Amino acid sequence: MHLMDIDQIRSQFPQLKEKVYGRQLVYLDNAATSLRPVSVAEKWAEMSLRHNSNLHRAVHKTAVDATEEYESTRAAVAAFIGAAAPEEIVFTSGTTQSSNLLASCLEHGNFFAEGDEILICEAEHHSNIVPWQMVAARKGLKIKVLPIDDRGQILISELGNLLTPRTKICAVAQASNVLGIINPIRKIADICHANGTLVFVDGAQGIPHLPTDVKEMDCDFYAFSGHKMYAAPGTGILYGKRSLLEALPPYMGGGEMIESVSWEKTTYAPVPRRFEAGTQNISGVPSLRPAMEMCKLLAGREITAETERVKTFLLGFFSAHPDITLYGNPDDPAEKLPIFSITVKGAHHEDLALILDKMGIATRSGQMCAEPLMDGFGVTGMLRASFAPYNTMQEAVYFTECLQKAIDMLK
Ligand SMILES: Cc1ncc(COP(=O)(O)O)c(C=O)c1O
Repeated sequence: MHLMDIDQIRSQFPQLKEKVYGRQLVYLDNAATSLRPVSVAEKWAEMSLRHNSNLHRAVHKTAVDATEEYESTRAAVAAFIGAAAPEEIVFTSGTTQSSNLLASCLEHGNFFAEGDEILICEAEHHSNIVPWQMVAARKGLKIKVLPIDDRGQILISELGNLLTPRTKICAVAQASNVLGIINPIRKIADICHANGTLVFVDGAQGIPHLPTDVKEMDCDFYAFSGHKMYAAPGTGILYGKRSLLEALPPYMGGGEMIESVSWEKTTYAPVPRRFEAGTQNISGVPSLRPAMEMCKLLAGREITAETERVKTFLLGFFSAHPDITLYGNPDDPAEKLPIFSITVKGAHHEDLALILDKMGIATRSGQMCAEPLMDGFGVTGMLRASFAPYNTMQEAVYFTECLQKAIDMLK
C-alpha cells in the first residue's frame, strides 16, 4: 500500500464518514482508542471467518495456518519495536494486563524484598500506578513519586536524588495520556541503570505517534495496547529483555504455558509461551500486522506535516485564550504529542464535552485515569482532545469554533 495523502488515508477509516446527531463525526478521542482501518477489520474478519482454529495445539492445516499468523505477528512486532528476538514479545490483552503481568511476575519471582522501592512518575495512568501499589502493599515496598514541573515535564534533575540502592524499578510512560509530553526515556534509563534500577515504559500513547525502538530507549520492559494503534481491542504487548523475561516465573497457569505436567512436578514452557496461558486472541493478534503497516503509512511526511500544523495552531489558540489553561506545554513543542487537555474558567469539562458531542465532536472529559495528576494540578477533571495522524487542520479549526461556542453558552 502506498497511500500518502490525507484523503486517501482517511478513506481507509470508514468511521470518519459517520454522522452523529446529523453532524459529521469529528473523532478527537484517539488517546482512548483509535479508529480502525479497513485492512485491520479485514484481517480480523478473515481470521474469524476463514482461519479460525486454536493455536499451538493441533496438527491440522487450519491450526498450523492460524499458529503461523500468530507467530509471524510476534516476529513482526519484534521488528517494529526493535526487539532483539520474537521471544522478547509476550502477547497480552493490553497495556493494563502487561503492567499487571510484569508486577505480578516480579513479585512472585522474589525480585522485591520488604523495604525496597518502586519509583513512579507523577503523570502516570492508573494502570501504571495501581498494579505497583498492589504489589507494594503485599510485599511491604515503598512507592516514590518522580515529579513533573508546572509545564508537565519530568523533573529529571530529581531522579538522581530519588534513586537509592533499594529502588528496584522505575515505571514511566513514553508519553502521558493527559499531557501528551514525550518523556526523555533514554536519559531516564541511563540514570536508572547506573543505579541498578530497571525501567518499565508504558508505551500506550507513544506507539501510535512515535517511531519506537526499545534498544534505543534501552528500557528493560515496554508495554502497549493494540486498540490505541488501530488494531483489534483485546490485543497488547509486553516486551522484555530476554534475560529478564527468562528470570521471571509464569503469570497464570493453564494450557500451553507448560513443558510437562505431572502430579509430582510441573515444568514451564520457555519464554514467551510461559506467560501466555490458555486460548489466546486468535483473530485479534494478526490484526496487529496491518495496524503496524498503518502506523508506518501515517508516519509519512505529508501526514506528519499536517499533524504539526494542527499542533502549532492549537498550541497558539490555547495559549492566547484568556479562559483556557492547557496542561502539558513543554518548552519545545516537538516534545508534545497532539493530545490537548484543558480546563476552562467558568465551564465544567463534562458540560463542554456534552455540548461538543451535540456538534459532532467526540472528546474525553474527567480524570482520564490519572487522578494523582489531577490532584497535583488541583483540578477535578479536564477536557481532552486527542488527535490521530488522520485528523485534519479543518477538524482542528472546527473544534476551536465549537469549543468557543460551548464556552460562550456556559459563561
Ligand atoms: C498511558 C496509558 N497507559 C495505559 C493505558 C491502559 O490501556 P488499556 O486500557 O488498553 O489497557 C492507557 C489507556 O488509556 C494509557 O493512556
